[in-house]
Amino acid sequence: MKTVAVNTGRSYEIYIEHNILDRAGAYIRPLTKAMRAAVVSDTNVAPIYAERVIKSLQAAGFETSLFVFEAGEGSKRLSTIEKMYAHFFEHNITRTDIGIALGGGVTGDMTGFACASYLRGIDFVQIPTSLLAQVDSSVGGKTGVDLAVGKNLVGAFWQPRLVLIDPETLHTLPSMFFTDGLGEVIKYGCIRSRSLFERLENENARDFIDDIIFECVSIKRDVVENDERDTGERAILNFGHTFGHALEKLGNYTSLTHGEAVSAGAAILTRIAESRGLTEPGTSERLDKLLTKYALPTKADYPLKEIVAATRGDKKSTGKSVSFVFLKNIGECFIQKIDTSDFAGFFGIDNG
Ligand SMILES: NC(=O)c1ccc[n+]([C@@H]2O[C@H](COP(=O)([O-])OP(=O)(O)OC[C@H]3O[C@@H](n4cnc5c(N)ncnc54)[C@H](O)[C@@H]3O)[C@@H](O)[C@H]2O)c1
Ligand SMILES: [Zn+2]
Repeated sequence: MKTVAVNTGRSYEIYIEHNILDRAGAYIRPLTKAMRAAVVSDTNVAPIYAERVIKSLQAAGFETSLFVFEAGEGSKRLSTIEKMYAHFFEHNITRTDIGIALGGGVTGDMTGFACASYLRGIDFVQIPTSLLAQVDSSVGGKTGVDLAVGKNLVGAFWQPRLVLIDPETLHTLPSMFFTDGLGEVIKYGCIRSRSLFERLENENARDFIDDIIFECVSIKRDVVENDERDTGERAILNFGHTFGHALEKLGNYTSLTHGEAVSAGAAILTRIAESRGLTEPGTSERLDKLLTKYALPTKADYPLKEIVAATRGDKKSTGKSVSFVFLKNIGECFIQKIDTSDFAGFFGIDNG
């Protein structure tokens, strides 16, 4: 087993182990006095994995219940949270009981938010089953839901008590979502780990997925420990995301997956940064080549002018300026604010 300790306001461990689902109960038991464990999962993940997790929780002495919601981002809203609260109430979940998020990022974000707010806060455990959730969303304590007007607009910082990662679950993850998660993995290589980037270049990601998960989680841990509330350094995790969010928006959240949008966003921005002398020559070509190797896009179907205009509404923008994360080279990055009044000059587009 590989472990990573996260020292945020409330500390917790991340365990990476094959078939850890069958030992979930044993690992959770020493951390809590809970009598009941409410497992939350979606309609794709629950039929494959819920029984094993529930069996292990029962073997460890927990009374269990299972709440299943319709899979997909469309469920990530307050109406599902309300149903989850009702489930907690009907199953007598008290302040000392525990929620278990078993699924991808949607399950983790929603379970975390419901647990952050139910009875003003109950413990929860993350058991991420998608690559994106294993390398990114299950670590760091950001939880929440979407509103009709925008994604992730309501939420809370709420750290899990434990994160249990079973790389075996990736065998049933549809390849489209595996590719999606690889977009974030490549991001970690770009911003913080030249060695990860190089292994991704030289080997096949599936062949060293345990090392990938460990490395990405360790990077996210380091960044989150320094900036739990996302007021500074944590912004580097946004590499590719400013343009990525713009591309998702321009495509009405249907034409590109999140990982694809981030990949294209990273590639487009790095090309510009390199031509402005901000990024070491050759970086952009290497990034394009790696993204292409993993079937991720390096371009988008929109003119730069439209992409840049769409960044103005980004959640991370202050109105007058937008923060961009640029690569110095592969493995090193820096944050730079660009005034919206300088957009035309910087991006070489006319202001019309
Ligand atoms: N909290 C954070 O810090 C953070 C960071 C990044 C992303 N997110 C959020 O994460 C969400 C995206 O996560 P996601 O891509 O995991 O979405 P998801 O939870 O919808 O999972 C993707 C799909 O894969 C299925 N699935 C998951 N694991 C599976 C498995 N092992 N076998 C078969 N099917 C499986 C799901 O049912 C779903 O259809 C977004 O809502 C995003 O906002 C949160
Ligand atoms: Zn992302």
